[in-house]
Amino acid sequence: MSPQIAFLGAGNMATAMINGLLASGFSPSQLRASDPSEAALSRLRSLGLSQLDTSPQHIFIDADLVVVAVKPQVAPDALVAIRDQIGPNTAILSIAAGIPIASLQAAVDPSVPVIRCMPNTPAMIGKGASGLFATAQASDAQRALAEQVTNAVGMTIWVSSEALLDAVTAVSGSGPAYFFALIEAIIAAGIDLGLDQKTAVALTLQTAIGAAELAGRSELPISTLRENVTSPGGTTEQALLALQSHQFDEIITHAVQACAERARTLGEEFG
Ligand SMILES: NC(=O)c1ccc[n+]([C@@H]2O[C@H](COP(=O)([O-])OP(=O)(O)OC[C@H]3O[C@@H](n4cnc5c(N)ncnc54)[C@H](OP(=O)(O)O)[C@@H]3O)[C@@H](O)[C@H]2O)c1
Repeated sequence: MSPQIAFLGAGNMATAMINGLLASGFSPSQLRASDPSEAALSRLRSLGLSQLDTSPQHIFIDADLVVVAVKPQVAPDALVAIRDQIGPNTAILSIAAGIPIASLQAAVDPSVPVIRCMPNTPAMIGKGASGLFATAQASDAQRALAEQVTNAVGMTIWVSSEALLDAVTAVSGSGPAYFFALIEAIIAAGIDLGLDQKTAVALTLQTAIGAAELAGRSELPISTLRENVTSPGGTTEQALLALQSHQFDEIITHAVQACAERARTLGEEFG
């Protein structure tokens, strides 16, 4: 039997995942969704899905995987509304940021297998990075199905404890914003030096893409790639010395740690 995946919430993230699943070979008949917004559902109807409802009443019955893709603050209540439909063979994949597994299980049943995911926004274009953690109740088949969902929008990394999802949040969940901030700063500096906006944006973006792809494809350590563009007495060296003199590494470490700490306290608040 081909697996059935039902989405609780049909917003941006669910739509990206559904697009990815269809592109990776899933049939529209394997995918369902419930969302109070008719506009959100009509987007999915245009992709060929037919099991769609503004009411969650029947959509989740016999689903192999329920993907919780609503905003974090509504996730527990949204799950309570469908708890009667969660059967013995259903697992939950939650992408709701910060909601602990214990809160999700409390909303349905503590024995329900839950896989918690921290995605990131490049999933919208199939370039996401997702961290996953599964409870011991999740079977290999359920883990594999969850991974098919996250692989459909990018790459997947499994972590060995739920607490490590705070580190995933700090590195990749919030990570795009750090890179956007760096990109913005370089563009502004380029404009200060006389480049027009369009040129500064084009050069900065292509450099970010090129550097990331080079680092991903090269067998050399990233530190060696950095050293290779840093000739003694040259231009890059001056830039890196200026970064160091302003504690660049410490600033980034502090930012990533602050993010992880906020993820931890948010989890406690949601819990
Ligand atoms: N780490 C990251 O960078 C990252 C990135 C993206 C998403 N996420 C997580 O992904 C989740 C979804 O985000 P999103 O951007 O896709 O949100 P979104 O576009 O707002 O989608 C959520 C959808 O759920 C609907 N909804 C609200 N209550 C519902 C209910 N009881 N049952 C079913 N559907 C309901 C909403 O309808 P209305 O608009 O009518 O309320 C909306 O269409 C969030 O929990 C977020 O934390 C994380």
